[in-house]
Amino acid sequence: MILGTPLSTSATKVMLLGSGELGKEVIIALQRLGVEVIAVDRYENAPGHQVAHRAYTIDMTDASALKALIAKEKPHLIVPEIEALNTDALADIERDGFTVIPTVKAVQLTMNREGIRRLAAEELKLPVSPYAFARSAAELKASIDGVSGSQPIGYPCFIKPTMSSSGKGQSRVTEQSQVQAAWDYAATGGRVNQGVVIVEGQIDFDYEITLLTVRAKNSVGEIQTYFCEPIGHVQKSGDYVESWQPQKMTENALKSAQAIAKAITDSLGGLGLFGVELFVKGDQVWFSEVSPRPHDTGMVTMCSQRFSEFELHARAILGLPVDVSMREAGASAVIYGGIASNSLKYDGLEAALAVPSSDVRLFGKPESFVKRRMGVALATGKDTDEARDRAKLSASLVKPI
Ligand SMILES: Nc1ncnc2c1ncn2[C@@H]1O[C@H](COP(=O)(O)OP(=O)(O)O)[C@@H](O)[C@H]1O
Ligand SMILES: [Mg+2]
Repeated sequence: MILGTPLSTSATKVMLLGSGELGKEVIIALQRLGVEVIAVDRYENAPGHQVAHRAYTIDMTDASALKALIAKEKPHLIVPEIEALNTDALADIERDGFTVIPTVKAVQLTMNREGIRRLAAEELKLPVSPYAFARSAAELKASIDGVSGSQPIGYPCFIKPTMSSSGKGQSRVTEQSQVQAAWDYAATGGRVNQGVVIVEGQIDFDYEITLLTVRAKNSVGEIQTYFCEPIGHVQKSGDYVESWQPQKMTENALKSAQAIAKAITDSLGGLGLFGVELFVKGDQVWFSEVSPRPHDTGMVTMCSQRFSEFELHARAILGLPVDVSMREAGASAVIYGGIASNSLKYDGLEAALAVPSSDVRLFGKPESFVKRRMGVALATGKDTDEARDRAKLSASLVKPI
């Protein structure tokens, strides 16, 4: 692998499609290797825009805008950071000889819950929650309550748009009277209204994890799969609020988790880091979903691992070797905006950073909403309990005003 000099004719150029807080960290990791980085987002001054060599603001669901920008910049690698992309355009771009990370197939399958669920459950036969797809409120009710010949999903269950992330449009339903409202919410809450929702039976898990799985080249140039230590996390209304590493697991559960992660990432292919979301109860493990890119719950790795998930992604996509080892137990806690503002200020940082072994990332998002993730607090500790207490304390001391 040869890397060039940025802003010269030898530059190795990487384009990020989506430049939020996760993209920003990938960009910083690439910058440290002297890669020329082009950050693209749908709004100006996105976090990643602020640290890249060049920044563009375009509608990435618009095929011609996407194709024109790629034709102009000719990046060596195209790295999708978000799901809301025109994947048909990406398929054309891949056919033209550009490399999309990890693969266009992976990006297409994972942006749609129907694609990834059918691959995991029906093709790879991985254990998943009971599920059905519905194209109307009546179909949804029938799949939950059962019609002749089909197994009812039952209650409680989760109803989600097939195209959505971070819990958007998602509801947990415990009785029949709530189904219509859940349908209405999912049908309007999705990203691109496909009029299709998934309903999943609730898995009564002990805990849920993200297993960061890296497909990278080894010392002889073959693609090998590497697993980070499992990350435990807490979700509120489908959005992550806290994560920690390592999550303790039984040996059997860890083995099953790794086997599931290997199967799904092998099938998606390409190079890079994946966030495989799994539910665990005792020794039993269910596949939930997968991101073909760094995962928000993986922000903890900025303090707990030798190389963060962003550095690992940067190295893997460039064809460089990775080291997934953990350094010490760590945790992350989300800092929300708390108020709507176009010029948010952050008070209390002296106190937040006085918490032992703590660190804070402020993403620099130009616009704040009450429930927008504006930063994250990180902390290490002698164990994950101590790390979690410190990270939560540090996050709570940051006061957006
Ligand atoms: N079938 C399920 N059983 C139990 N919990 C679930 C189920 N589906 C979703 N959840 C909960 O909701 C969270 C968000 O769901 P997920 O499918 O990961 O949506 P998103 O793509 O928005 O992250 C999960 O991390 C889990 O806590
Ligand atoms: Mg998820």
